[in-house]
Amino acid sequence: MSFWAPGEVRLMFQAVTQAPSVHNIQPWVLELHERSVQVFERWDDAIPRHDPKDRDRLISCGAAVTNLELAVRHLGWETTTTPFPDHGHPDLVASVTAVRPYVPTSSERDLYRAIPYRRSHRFGFDGDPLSEDEIRAVKHALVGERVSYHRVTGREEAETVAALTQHAVQVLRHDHRYLRELQALTVDRGKVRLGIPADRIGHGLFGGLVHSGDPAPDHETLTSLITKECVFVVETIDDTRWDHVLAGQAIQRAWLTATRLGLAASLITQSLQVPEVRAGLGEKLQLPGFPHALMRFGRATRVPKPSPRRTFVDVVRQS
Ligand SMILES: Cc1cc2nc3c(=O)[nH]c(=O)nc-3n(C[C@H](O)[C@H](O)[C@H](O)COP(=O)(O)O)c2cc1C
Repeated sequence: MSFWAPGEVRLMFQAVTQAPSVHNIQPWVLELHERSVQVFERWDDAIPRHDPKDRDRLISCGAAVTNLELAVRHLGWETTTTPFPDHGHPDLVASVTAVRPYVPTSSERDLYRAIPYRRSHRFGFDGDPLSEDEIRAVKHALVGERVSYHRVTGREEAETVAALTQHAVQVLRHDHRYLRELQALTVDRGKVRLGIPADRIGHGLFGGLVHSGDPAPDHETLTSLITKECVFVVETIDDTRWDHVLAGQAIQRAWLTATRLGLAASLITQSLQVPEVRAGLGEKLQLPGFPHALMRFGRATRVPKPSPRRTFVDVVRQS
């Protein structure tokens, strides 16, 4: 008999599968073992033009690992996570082991419960700015082993982010291979299991994805939008594969924290995949580490529909 009951496996699958992922490719496979679950990177839906160094793939896997840890704790087990445990299998990203019986903390329970409600909100935010308490909670979640953040503050920094974003828009909207890749993953709702529904894109805004026909946002509009939003740059102290996984874990913790507080968020890595934009952010904001993503938080009056997800048989395998 397996250590994991069928209902427990389904619960872990559901938690993992709802994690955010670059272009919603859900680049993970779960393998079940006695007392542990392994998260493997998968390569069947590569996006080499957007993610040539596989940074976003590993950030996505990191978000999935956070959801898996929360699910195993929800099942009543303390967890330990071993990064890249097998040098012979570099695609094995992490092993999450159930070490001993455990009662999850109330904050772990809240984060676990927030998993199905988290969404990418690529549109403008409505309503009041975040309170100091809300900002503090998000900041707290963004700090972790090797991971920290920089909050974009004041007009000068907003102008810097706006200028770099505009540059990225100019580069990307003329990169036909890039656009073809994104277009192939821009989907209509229906039987698809991957990709971003066209009605979730948010064209032309700071939080949206760049497509070919999108107007480049004007500098003043973009600057004032960024000044009003609560925007963080997520960074790590190094740029290794494990740093990328840890960045994904912190991003997901912060995203679930925001969801639990009734806030909306979106993640932007698209512009940082343009090398001079990533370098420019680091230099102009004087970041001590390696930037991976911009993360914006705000209030939204509606929760968008969920994006499609892979099926159980496509994600879970027995060892
Ligand atoms: C590593 C990573 C990079 C992402 N980059 C972007 C991005 O540049 N722009 C964007 O709008 N969404 C981005 N997203 C969000 C995904 O598109 C989103 O998680 C996915 O489509 C699933 O939708 P959901 O978050 O609503 O569940 C990214 C997510 C991850 C994990």
